[in-house]
Amino acid sequence: MVESVESAPPFLDRHGRMLGSLRLSVTDRCNLRCQYCMPAASYDWLPREDLLSFEELRRLAALFVSLGADQVRLTGGEPLLRRDLPDLVRKLSGIPGLRDLALTTNGLLLAPLAAPLRAAGLQRITVSLDTLRPDVFERVSRRKGHAEVLAGIDAALAAGFRGLKLDCVVMRGMNDDEIPALLDYARAHGAELRFIEYMDVGGAQHWKPERVVPAAEILQHIQRAFGPVSGGGAQGAAPSTPWRLQDGTPFGIIASMSAPFCGACVRSRVTADGHWFHCLYAREGFDLRAPLRAGLSDKELAEFIGARWRERDMQGALDRLRAGSHGAGEGDAHYEMHVRGG
Ligand code: 5AD
Ligand code: SF4
Repeated sequence: MVESVESAPPFLDRHGRMLGSLRLSVTDRCNLRCQYCMPAASYDWLPREDLLSFEELRRLAALFVSLGADQVRLTGGEPLLRRDLPDLVRKLSGIPGLRDLALTTNGLLLAPLAAPLRAAGLQRITVSLDTLRPDVFERVSRRKGHAEVLAGIDAALAAGFRGLKLDCVVMRGMNDDEIPALLDYARAHGAELRFIEYMDVGGAQHWKPERVVPAAEILQHIQRAFGPVSGGGAQGAAPSTPWRLQDGTPFGIIASMSAPFCGACVRSRVTADGHWFHCLYAREGFDLRAPLRAGLSDKELAEFIGARWRERDMQGALDRLRAGSHGAGEGDAHYEMHVRGG
C-alpha cells in the first residue's frame, strides 16, 4: 500500500513552522522553588499513575522523530529527580533519526549523574545558573544547594560534555549586577552563557514588568564591562541570539519578552503525564496519554500528532507583546512552567 502524501513529513503549521524540537518533561517535581517558575505556596503534583512510563516516553519520542523532529530535550520539573533517568536516556539514544538528545537541569543532582548520563548516550546539557552568590541562589530558588550546582557543572565537564550551556534568568534587583561575573565564570569553564529575559509565564507570580531586564540593557551591562561585542545576527530556529566578546567568548541572549521568536518556533512540549502543548502560553494541550494507553497503532498516533501540528496557530509571546497584555496567570497544573519544562 502506498502511504498518502498527507501523512509524510515535513509537517508545517499554519505559520509554516516545522515540527522540530520536542521538549519532553519526565517529572513535574522539583527540588527547588525558583520564584520565576514555581507558584510560591503549596502545589498539587501530578498523580504518579498519570506519569508516562519510560516505554511510553520512548514511543512518543520515536513518533515525533518519525514526524520530522530531530531534537529531543528532557526537562522537568527537575528531570534528574526521575529515578533511573540514564535508563531512559539509553532507550531514547537508540531512536534512529534522533540527531540531538539534550537535557535541561538545575544541576543540584548532576554531580553523581553526569558520567552515567553521558555513558547512556546523552549528548548535551544545559544547566540553570542564575547567580554565583549562595545567598542570592537561596533567594531565587528558596532552597539551599548552590555548591552542588557548581559541582554539577564541573562534573558535566569532567564527564566530557562539550558545548555546555548555562541559562540565567535575569531579574532586576536580584542578579542583574552579576552579568559580567557570570560571563567570566562561563568563559573560565568553556561554557556558553545565555541570558534570558524574565517571562510572565504561569507560575511566575512575582513577575512585574519592572523586573524584566530587556536584552538591550543586558548588552549594555556587558559592553560596559568587556568592551564592544559582535554578533546579534540570524538565529534560525534557536531562541537565543548569538553574541561574542572581543576575545571570542560566545554568549547568548534570549529576548522572549522584548523580541519574541514565535515566528521561528519549531518547539513543542509534552508534560510528564502526556499532555502536548504547542506553546508555553497555550492554555489547552492535547492529551496523548489516553490514545497511547487506548492501544492506537503508531500510524494512528502519528496521524493524530501530524494533523494537530498542521492546525498549530499559537504565537503566544508575540500575541501578548502586540496586545500589551502581560502578567503572570494562574490556572490548572498544566499551565505552570515547572510542569511544561522551561
Ligand atoms: N522566565 C524565563 N525563563 C524561565 N524559565 C523558567 N521560568 C522562567 C521565566 N519565568 C526557564 C529558566 C529555567 C528553566 C528551567 O526554564 O531557564 O532555568
Ligand atoms: Fe525547578 Fe527549574 Fe522551575 Fe527552578 S526553574 S523551580 S529548578 S523547574
